[in-house]
Amino acid sequence: MAMESLIGLVNRIQRACTVLGDYGGDNALPTLWEHLPSIVVVGGQSSGKSSVLESIVGRDFLPRGSGIVTRRPLVLQLHRIEEGTEYAEFLHLPRKKFVDFSLVRKEIQDETDRITGRSKQISPVPIHLSIYSPNVVNLTLIDLPGLTKVAVDGQPDSIVADIENMVQTYVEKQNSIILAISPANQDIATSDAMKLAREVDPTGERTWGVLTKLDLMDKGTNAVDVLEGRAYRLQQPWIGVVNRSQADINKNVDMIAARRREREYFSNSLDYGHLANRMGSEYLGKMLSKHLEAVIKARIPSILALINKTIDELEEEMNQLGRALAVDPGAQLYTILELCRSFDHIFKSHLDGGRPGGER
Ligand code: GDP
Ligand code: NA
Ligand code: MG
Repeated sequence: MAMESLIGLVNRIQRACTVLGDYGGDNALPTLWEHLPSIVVVGGQSSGKSSVLESIVGRDFLPRGSGIVTRRPLVLQLHRIEEGTEYAEFLHLPRKKFVDFSLVRKEIQDETDRITGRSKQISPVPIHLSIYSPNVVNLTLIDLPGLTKVAVDGQPDSIVADIENMVQTYVEKQNSIILAISPANQDIATSDAMKLAREVDPTGERTWGVLTKLDLMDKGTNAVDVLEGRAYRLQQPWIGVVNRSQADINKNVDMIAARRREREYFSNSLDYGHLANRMGSEYLGKMLSKHLEAVIKARIPSILALINKTIDELEEEMNQLGRALAVDPGAQLYTILELCRSFDHIFKSHLDGGRPGGER
């Protein structure tokens, strides 16, 4: 059996965390969630977050519209398959395979409303979506509500602060990689994403800067200073992208064609030609996949330690409950325990000479 990729393995733990109620916010259980490396997408409204995610996936599948569309975290898990038809699956609908991506969009909307009611409030309970495709790299990204200044169409005023708090919970985690999206047609100094990143990661160690809308900059200006890391210094290189414009979306320009056009944009550009091989959504996806795998690998020992601590605590709790008490609470503990044991086992096999990502 091919060894599960490290990213795939962490995905499974992440799903288990959600099922067990372990996500941002108050938590009684020893929180494994906090220790899992993940990539979180942040940026102001309309900065291009959804567009970047769709370009990385090569598919149109995210709800859009005015106002605050993303109202629950979306854990987007990409799994590369060598061949076959692309399909999507939700954690909350385990037996249903989606091949029509417009239905994926609808299901994200419906599932958002299911938890938040039609109140347009936000909720920290994540939606998990897996996409299996020959056009993706192995990667997990968490899409969060966009930072905003004002509540609109019937959304309560408190939503502005609620969103900021939710995004904070994610970016504060030392194991979060921050994918900070800023539009090139605005001053980088005023970017919501960079302001937030600077607060929690002042040295820029875990922030990836993505610059969108390069094609919308005023004539005669360019973003070379940002892309070459002089305007805002980060440990990782900045990556520029050109997503579909609203007119492209209205015309239904397909994503694969858009990716090709983006490549052409960079290679033909007088300003960015010298950077062309390190720009664009495809390159971004590949770099993030490599980076995430490396970060997970470096964290295996601490994740293992935490899993073992969890096992010890659960065993003790089970002993206190007594074996005879095989009722619900006990049974749930037992499930968690079994899960932790299996993760422990698989992680160790990765340490013992297993080649991470060996399935490729
Ligand atoms: P989000 O609110 O951050 O998720 O932003 P969206 O991805 O929904 O993008 C907002 C609007 O900007 C949409 O109309 C997109 O078509 C447009 N847009 C995003 N990125 C680019 C880009 O690189 N170039 C152009 N021309 N338009 C873009
Ligand atoms: Na912004
Ligand atoms: Mg969006």
